[in-house]
This record gives sequence, structure tokens and C-alpha cells, in this order.
Amino acid sequence: MKSPKAQNQNQDTSTNGSSIPPGDLDGRPYSHDERALVYARAKGEVDAHPFGTELDVYAGEYEWLAHSIMPNPDVDPQMRVQVGSSQCSRPYAASRLNISAMSFGALGANAIEALNLGAKLGDFYHDTGEGGISPYHRRHGGDLVWELGSGYFGCRQADGTFDPERFRDRAQDDQVKMTEIKLSQGAKPGHGGVLPGVKVTREIAETRGVPEGQDCLSPAVHSAFSTPRELVEFAARMRELSGGKPVGIKLCVGLPHELFAVVKAMLTTGIVLDFIVIDGAEGGTGAAPTELSDRMGMPLREGLIIARNALVGAGLKGQVRLAASGKVTSGAGIAMHAALGADWCNAGRAFMFSLGCIQSMRCHADTCPTGIATQSPARQRGLVVPEKAQRVARFHKATVGALRELTVAAGLHSVDDFKPWHLRHRINVAEMRQMDELYPFVREGELLDGAQNPTLRRWWDEADPESFRRRLVD
Ligand SMILES: Cc1cc2nc3c(=O)[nH]c(=O)nc-3n(C[C@H](O)[C@H](O)[C@H](O)COP(=O)(O)O)c2cc1C
Ligand code: SF4
Repeated sequence: MKSPKAQNQNQDTSTNGSSIPPGDLDGRPYSHDERALVYARAKGEVDAHPFGTELDVYAGEYEWLAHSIMPNPDVDPQMRVQVGSSQCSRPYAASRLNISAMSFGALGANAIEALNLGAKLGDFYHDTGEGGISPYHRRHGGDLVWELGSGYFGCRQADGTFDPERFRDRAQDDQVKMTEIKLSQGAKPGHGGVLPGVKVTREIAETRGVPEGQDCLSPAVHSAFSTPRELVEFAARMRELSGGKPVGIKLCVGLPHELFAVVKAMLTTGIVLDFIVIDGAEGGTGAAPTELSDRMGMPLREGLIIARNALVGAGLKGQVRLAASGKVTSGAGIAMHAALGADWCNAGRAFMFSLGCIQSMRCHADTCPTGIATQSPARQRGLVVPEKAQRVARFHKATVGALRELTVAAGLHSVDDFKPWHLRHRINVAEMRQMDELYPFVREGELLDGAQNPTLRRWWDEADPESFRRRLVD
């Protein structure tokens, strides 16, 4: 196999258009080279690239990270990030790369088991997805983030509303390290879903707490809250019921004033979330309506910068951690998002590649050729859990190792020290810009005193902690 090159997640043909020569960089959503890098790392093969980059570094949209004359070889190899505000009694030290939410149901039992065992071997977390905690999440004891979508699967009453008792019973389990409210997903923002009755097997029904063989509905909207204030109050309740574990939200940014309203609600109630995960429109799904995938939701970069500005501008970034997901495949991808404010990244499809996904894009048809996105026992037979778990762990280790090498080369002490000016973007053959020349980055507390940037100031003024509606401003 050809050696993969370490490239960032933006350098595929979808963002670089014709500026990159066809061939190894072809392929969507992920280029051949992006996948080859994951496969090589997962198999423990050589992941170095010989002879020099094949990217056209003078092509429009090329991006790079700034290194230092004085590299810092003393960067802590662990590079963990502490998650948990002052209101959380059981903080969690997260890896800089974790497995993004993908439910049992979207993925088969063997895939879930292999991901969880990989997480256990590599000491990182595995997000359950909104389909609840299945026996396959439990078997190997890898760290879990329990995600609650609008269906409250695994902790719902018969009418589909949140059941605090059931939530407490499971959230207090030691394997669950954090809990997360899913507000939206980049690939299908604002979309509920139906798992058809034929797919609601006994195991899926038990995991989700729904009747077997009947259509299983995820409403488009949550029933536990309807305002920003109620959202943070619900989060505080989850934190308390879980025994003080970090609680966060996951969303793809739509209308910025809504996210600003959540931040305002934190200020007015004094309740802080422990983390926010921003998912990009480029994110994946098992299945989604084309229009929602292609044309709705904010791409990760803009969403992440808005979230970073909301938290820093409100003086909350010290308490509330920020994570990013959307086509991360490499250490460079994590470092680039760190420069824009992310404390860690989650990856979904890259971990699927580490399991052997070949991007055949039949996840919705239950005919996955690699046994990952299927419930068919026959198709899953080739997915041998101990072997694939090793691949998951190796991919993670090599990617975080590459992130450390970038941190060393940049002369930084920590991944947290990547700043917008470390990330450079080519405008044309003769011009480049730092990210802070392209986007506004507010200083600590700036939104509270009236942000200089008029757009950010307007979003802040429009935000209402008592309603997701836009407050009318002059
Ligand atoms: C098969 C599949 C199932 C998913 N299921 C969920 C889910 O249950 N909840 C959720 O919040 N996101 C879900 N996602 C979205 C991912 O968690 C992630 O946010 C998105 O794919 C971006 O990461 P990626 O680009 O690294 O895949 C799913 C994605 C895939 C590919
Ligand atoms: S191999 Fe194809 S069907 Fe299976 S998970 Fe990958 S993209 Fe989906």
C-alpha cells in the first residue's frame, strides 16, 4: 500500500475543488489518502510519507500550521483535558480524540463492541449515540459518554418523556463518565427519526426501552425543555442525578443567537454546562434526507468559532470545555480545531474506517459489506471484535501521537496553546491570512461589555435566556 500522507480534514476535493490534482485525493466524503492514513495507522503499518507533500501548497485554500524555531520536546505525552466545571463533583480527564456518537441500531453489535474495547485499550471515550446503552457498550468497560436525544432512549417513560429514576440508575454506573444532551447533528439538523418496527429487535427494544417490533420514534424536538433556561436547568438535573458527572450539549449551530441564548442562560441562572460539542454540517449519519445533509446546518469551522466566541466573550471558556466533530481523521485536524478553540475532537467515520469501513455508503440499507452498519449476524461475522478493537486503539494512539508531534514542532506546552494565528489559510498564489485575520475572535468577557464586532454584538443582543426566539433589537 502506498504510504499515506498526513493531511488535514479540509484537504479533500470537496473543499479544495480543482486546486488538488485528481487521484489519491479523490473520493467523497473522504479522499483516498485520508482513508489510507486511517487504515495504515489502524493496522500499525508505516504511516510516514516519503519524498515530500503531494499537495499543491500554492493552491487556493491550502492551509498549514505555524511551527517554531524553538520546538518543545517536553510536551506531556498524555495530553488529557480536564472536563468538569466548579459545579461538577466528578470531573473526567478526556483524551484529545474520542469516538463520536453512533448508536447501537445504526451500528451492529460487533462494531459497538470493537469500538468500546478499542476505547478501553486506548483510554479514551466512546459516545453511546442517542440509541441508549446496549449490552455491547457494557461488555468491555470502555469509558462511556451517555447521549440523550429527544427519545430519551434507555431512560424514558411509556409516553416517551424523560424518566429521572431510570436515568439515575444508569448514569451513576461507573462506566458512564459524562452525559450529553443531543440538540442536533450536522448531517440532519432538526430532524427526528423513525426506526421502522422490523428493525426494532428484542435487543434494540430492551436497550432503548421501547416495545419490540413497533416503529420507534425520535421526535424532532425535546420534551424536557423548551427554553434556554429550561435547557440548562435540565442539564443541572442530569448532573445531579448522575452523581455529579460532567454534563454537556451537542449541536450543529443553526441560528447563532440561539447558542448565545444558552450562554446567557448560564449567566442568568448561574448554572454552567461542563462541555459543548459542536458538530459540523459535514458530519456523518447512518441515513438522512439529502436536503438536510447538503443544505442545512453550519459547517464546523464557523460553528466552532461562534461557540468559542460565545464562551470566551461571556467569560465562561475557563469552565465550559468545547469539543468539535466533523471529518477529523488526523492529528493536524485536531490541532487546527484546537487553534479555533476546541479542547478535543470526536470522530465518527474515521473510527469506522479503523474498523474496516470502505466508504461504500450503504449504511442505510442494512447491507454493509464490512459488517459495521448492519444488524445482520451473517454480515457481522467478519468483524472480529478483538482484532478490530486493536485497530481502533492503534489508530487513536498514532493520531494523538501525531498531534503531540505537531504541538512539539509548534514550540507549545500544550494543545491548548494552539491559537488562531497558528493556522494559516492561502487566499491566492501570493496571499495568505491567519485565522484571526479572517474571522473575529473576541477577548475574554468582551460580549459583556459590548463586542467590537457588530455581528457578534447583534447576536448577543438578540439572545434571550427565556426563549429561543430572536429578541428584536434596533
Ligand atoms: C452511522 C452514524 C450514526 C450516527 N449516530 C449519531 C447519534 O446517534 N447521535 C449523534 O449525536 N450523532 C450521530 N452521528 C454523528 C456523529 O456522532 C458525528 O457527529 C458526525 O458524524 C461527525 O463526525 P465524523 O465526521 O467524524 O463522522 C452518527 C454518525 C454516523 C456516521
Ligand atoms: S462499509 Fe459502507 S455501508 Fe458499511 S459502514 Fe462503511 S460506508 Fe457504511
